[in-house]
Amino acid sequence: MVEAQKKNYHQGPRHHHTSLKKPLWLVLTVSVFSMLLICTHMMPPRHRKSSSSSWLPVHVRKLSDEEVAARTVVRDILKTPPFLTSSSKIAFLFLTPGTLPFEKLWDKFFTGHEGKFSIYIHPSNERPVHISSHFSDREIYSDEVTWGRISVVDAEKRLLVSALEDPDNQHFVLLSESCIPLHTFDYTYRYLLYANVSFIESFVDPGPHGTGRHMEHMLPEIAREDFRKGAQWFTMKRQHAVIVMADSLYYSKFREYCGPGIEAYKDCIADEHYLPTFFSMIDPMGISNWSVTYVDWSERRWHPKTYTANEISLHFMKNVTTEEMSIHGTSVGEHGDELHWPCTWNGITRPCYLFARKFHPDALDTLLNLFPNYTSTVV
Ligand SMILES: *[C@@H]1O[C@H](CO)[C@@H](O)[C@H](O)[C@H]1NC(C)=O
Ligand SMILES: *[C@@H]1O[C@H](CO)[C@@H](O)[C@H](O)[C@H]1NC(C)=O
Ligand SMILES: *[C@@H]1O[C@H](CO)[C@@H](O)[C@H](O)[C@H]1NC(C)=O
Ligand SMILES: *[C@@H]1O[C@H](CO)[C@@H](O)[C@H](O)[C@H]1NC(C)=O
Repeated sequence: MVEAQKKNYHQGPRHHHTSLKKPLWLVLTVSVFSMLLICTHMMPPRHRKSSSSSWLPVHVRKLSDEEVAARTVVRDILKTPPFLTSSSKIAFLFLTPGTLPFEKLWDKFFTGHEGKFSIYIHPSNERPVHISSHFSDREIYSDEVTWGRISVVDAEKRLLVSALEDPDNQHFVLLSESCIPLHTFDYTYRYLLYANVSFIESFVDPGPHGTGRHMEHMLPEIAREDFRKGAQWFTMKRQHAVIVMADSLYYSKFREYCGPGIEAYKDCIADEHYLPTFFSMIDPMGISNWSVTYVDWSERRWHPKTYTANEISLHFMKNVTTEEMSIHGTSVGEHGDELHWPCTWNGITRPCYLFARKFHPDALDTLLNLFPNYTSTVV
C-alpha cells in the first residue's frame, strides 16, 4: 500500500524525460517483447497441446497462445545469467507523495558509496524539497497515484523502467517516504547483489483479504489456487524487472479486475497481489517469498503501525535488525492469523530485514543518533 495516499493526488508541473538516452539494447528488447505480446493479442485464442508448458507447475488446462508466448519470453530472459561487475549498482526507487522526511538519514546511509547506487523518485503529489545532493534532480516523470488502485503498480513500473535505462543497475529496491535503512550501505549492497533471489513477499492467505479477492474474470490465466498476497515493497533483480516490463497479459488481468469496488465486497488491492501472484506463477524458485522491509501489522488495522520518536530505542532497533523469522499476516478467522518462516539467504539463515517502515517524521533525530549504533550490530 502507498503511504498516506488515500485520495487522488494531482501532479503539479510534469517533468518530461527524454527517451533519447535509452540504451539501444533496452529499446530493442522492449520493442521485441511488445511486438511479441501485441501480435499474440491480435490472434484469436486457440487451444493447443500443453506439451510446451512442461517447465511450469503442472496445469491440466491447455494454455492459450498468449500464455505460451508470455512464458517463452520469461523463460528466455531467465536464462540470461546476472552480469555483476565492480560498477554494478543498486537502484533505490522512492514512491512518495512529495518531500522525503528521512532524506537526511538516507544521505548518511549513502555517503561514501557514490558509484554503487542510483536514486529515482516518483513524487505523485508535489515536487520534493531536497536537503541532500544525492537526491537532487532525481525525480522521474510522474503521475497521480490512488491508494489501492492499479495506478500504484503503474508508478512502480515507471520507476523500474527509468532505472532500467542505466545498464549498471542490477538490483532494484522499492521504498516509501516512511522507510528507513537498517544496515550499513555495504551490508545492504552485498545482501541484495549476491542473493540468488528477488525479495518479493508471496504467500497464500485463504481469507477474505487474500484468495477472497480473486475474481472469476481472472480465469483462466490466473487460477484461484495461484492467487497470492504480499507486501508492495519489493527488491528485484534486473532480469525480474525486465520481465515486469515485458508482461502485459497478467498485468492487464489485474488492471481490469483488481481494484476496490470492481466487485461487491472484494476490495482487491492490485499492488498487494499482482507481483506476488505473477512471480509465484512464472518463477517460484526465483523469489524469497518474504520481504526485506520490516512492517508491524500487529495492530490489525488497514494501515500498519507508525513508530514515533518516543517508541524507538537502540534495543528496539537491534531487535528488528537481528530478527531471523519473517511474519505473514493472513485474514483467516475473526482476528486473522500469522504465518512464520525463517529467512534463508542463499541457503543460510540470516536476519530478514534491510529496511523498516513506517516511521513518523518526528523520529528523524532519534534515528540519526542511533544509526551508527544499530547498523553496527551485524557485519
Ligand atoms: C516460494 O514459494 C513457492 C510456492 O509458491 C515455492 O515453490 C518456492 O520454492 C518458494 N521459494 C523459496 C525460495 O523457498
Ligand atoms: C522483538 O522482541 C520481542 C520481545 O522479545 C519479540 O516478540 C519480537 O518478535 C522481536 N522482534 C521484532 C522485529 O520486534
Ligand atoms: C539459491 O541458493 C541455495 C543455496 O545454495 C539453493 O538451495 C537454491 O536452489 C538457490 N536458488 C536459486 C534460484 O538459484
Ligand atoms: C552509540 O555508540 C557510541 C560509540 O560506541 C557510544 O558512545 C554511544 O553511547 C552509543 N549510544 C547509545 C545510545 O548506545
